[in-house]
Amino acid sequence: MSDIQTQFVKNVLSGAEQNLKDAGSAFAPSNIALSKYWGKRDAELNLPINSSLSVSLGNLGTQTEIRLAEKSSVYLNGELVDPADSFAVRTLEFLKLFPMVGTHFEVRTENNIPTAAGLASSASGFAALVMALNDLAGWALGPRMLSMLARLGSGSASRSLSHGFVQWHAGTADDGTDSFSERIDTEWSEFRIGILELSTARKAVGSRDGMNRTVETSALYKSWPAQADADFQVIRRAIEVKDFPMLGKTAERNALSMHATMMSAWPPLIYLQPESIEMIHKVQRLRDAGLELYLTIDAGPNIKLLFLESSVKEVLSEFPHLQIIKPFA
Ligand code: PMV
Repeated sequence: MSDIQTQFVKNVLSGAEQNLKDAGSAFAPSNIALSKYWGKRDAELNLPINSSLSVSLGNLGTQTEIRLAEKSSVYLNGELVDPADSFAVRTLEFLKLFPMVGTHFEVRTENNIPTAAGLASSASGFAALVMALNDLAGWALGPRMLSMLARLGSGSASRSLSHGFVQWHAGTADDGTDSFSERIDTEWSEFRIGILELSTARKAVGSRDGMNRTVETSALYKSWPAQADADFQVIRRAIEVKDFPMLGKTAERNALSMHATMMSAWPPLIYLQPESIEMIHKVQRLRDAGLELYLTIDAGPNIKLLFLESSVKEVLSEFPHLQIIKPFA
């Protein structure tokens, strides 16, 4: 928490009236970026260097309930979290940005995202937290304002306020007021995401430190912002015209380019494991054989497959343990 963040929150809330209730609750979906956010132009306000675009994961995400309390406490999936645990620390630090609501809170969070599957729970976690807070405080803020608040907890959380495809505009203003997310008004009911769980090991370097290291030390990063912006535009267009190969190809190349910037950092950031590489080759082989299958990878070893409903049978025969998500169900 810093003065700059406190001031930013005051700005966002300046037009909102507060009508406090006994408790607030909300659900937010997790999301996977098709064109990635990697690199901050402002660490305190979590302002990204480039715009990004994601797809939300339907009913996979976080349900949060919040109320005022005598003493702060955080529960995760029904169990009280040790106050020294980083999950509780991050949650309660974030809530200190909202003294106009209260000083102590009881927060109950349920994640139905298989945490072992390498899906970011911080995105849906902070999005659900600000939505629940909005409910508790009765501010009646819309997703655009809420996305700016969620962004302070975790960048990708700004894309978890809505279902479907979501774009996060990087913005250019130093005060962060034009960096927000909004839903893209296109449904694509045949769109599928497959989660390939390859490793449950905790990543050695979190995204915050990983991004900073990449921006500071990777020579390849210099070409990233322009590519990320171009990919963002192509993917947005591909969604508009429902051109799946254009979307898949651009998303896969975007993810692998991000990993190239990571690997060229020093010390190198190698999130991919041998199994990840094996799967990248397998997807390429299947594509060469005619299957419309693409992949994306975040800052971890697990692979997310992108395909359409018409390929489900074939994809399942190649990846029998795949967890398939229907983002528009
Ligand atoms: O929001 P963070 O700080 O967890 O960073 C997310 C970074 C990636 O997942 C690698 C990319 C993205 O756009 O979600």
